Amino acid sequence: MQNNNAPSATLKNLESALAGESMANIKYQYFAQICRAHGDETTARVFEATAKQEVQHAFGHMDLLFPKTKLDPAKCLELAIEGETYEYTEMYPAFRHTAIEEQHSHAANEFSEQIDESKEHAEQFKLVLEKASKRFAALTKVEERHANHYREALKTVKTS
Ligand SMILES: [Fe+2]
Ligand SMILES: [Fe+2]
Repeated sequence: MQNNNAPSATLKNLESALAGESMANIKYQYFAQICRAHGDETTARVFEATAKQEVQHAFGHMDLLFPKTKLDPAKCLELAIEGETYEYTEMYPAFRHTAIEEQHSHAANEFSEQIDESKEHAEQFKLVLEKASKRFAALTKVEERHANHYREALKTVKTS
């Protein structure tokens, strides 16, 4: 029985699998750049083709973690804002703190840059959500009208 609400070991595994497949995608694209820089076009293409397959594997996990029937543009923006906000308020500040403690200045600088980038992304998404909220409200009304229309049609079918 599928349960997408309760935290479960399988949900955690799906999240880990999503992270792993996403990382494989980026790694293979990066490896392709290395191979190309070494003049090995054949291996570069193998990495790029495999990277594309990893995206499909990641989408498979996304389908289970974030079922399409439960998403709409507003929900997607909310989830994105939540993710980026977590990155710039909690994750990267903690990572930077550790990097400074360990005197890993390159990592500390990179984390600082990512804090700015994530903040920028969160703000961009917020702006899109604010600007589009009227449009989303209108869309909800249209969907409501369609649903009512279908319900009426169904009644007619049932009573005829
Ligand atoms: Fe894979
Ligand atoms: Fe981002």
